[in-house]
Amino acid sequence: GAPVEVDIGSLNPGEMKTVEWRGKPVWIIKRTPEMIASLKNTDGKVADAESKRNPDEFTPEYARNEHRSRKPEILVAVGICTHLGCSPSSKFTPGPQPSLPDDWEGGFLCPCHGSTFDMAGRVFKNKPAPDNLQVPRHMFLSDTKLVIG
Ligand code: FES
Repeated sequence: GAPVEVDIGSLNPGEMKTVEWRGKPVWIIKRTPEMIASLKNTDGKVADAESKRNPDEFTPEYARNEHRSRKPEILVAVGICTHLGCSPSSKFTPGPQPSLPDDWEGGFLCPCHGSTFDMAGRVFKNKPAPDNLQVPRHMFLSDTKLVIG
């Protein structure tokens, strides 16, 4: 599939945009400082904090870090659960919520079998998804222009 160019100039902190790439939904999220800070707290609770598992398939080299991205504030991730392919929903609000861990820091929840992911798409240890959400190859052409693929 062809690379997809996305203008992220209008994306405000805490907002998310979905584009299609190779028939898959790709999320672009502009994380707030609080969302970035939440990753420190989830480091010990996620199954693969440094994205070491299947890195060639799921995490390009420049995203094998805590925030899983080129820039800490911008997350680019394929919005498809690595368990059986459902589409997780975004649950950005911290604090206790039904069916979420009490210490929920915000992230994504898969409705099919309950996998939860943090604000970097890292899967929590309770699984059942085996891997973190896929970070597609991407690069910035400028501060506001992103190319996926
Ligand atoms: Fe997401 Fe099973 S498909 S938890």
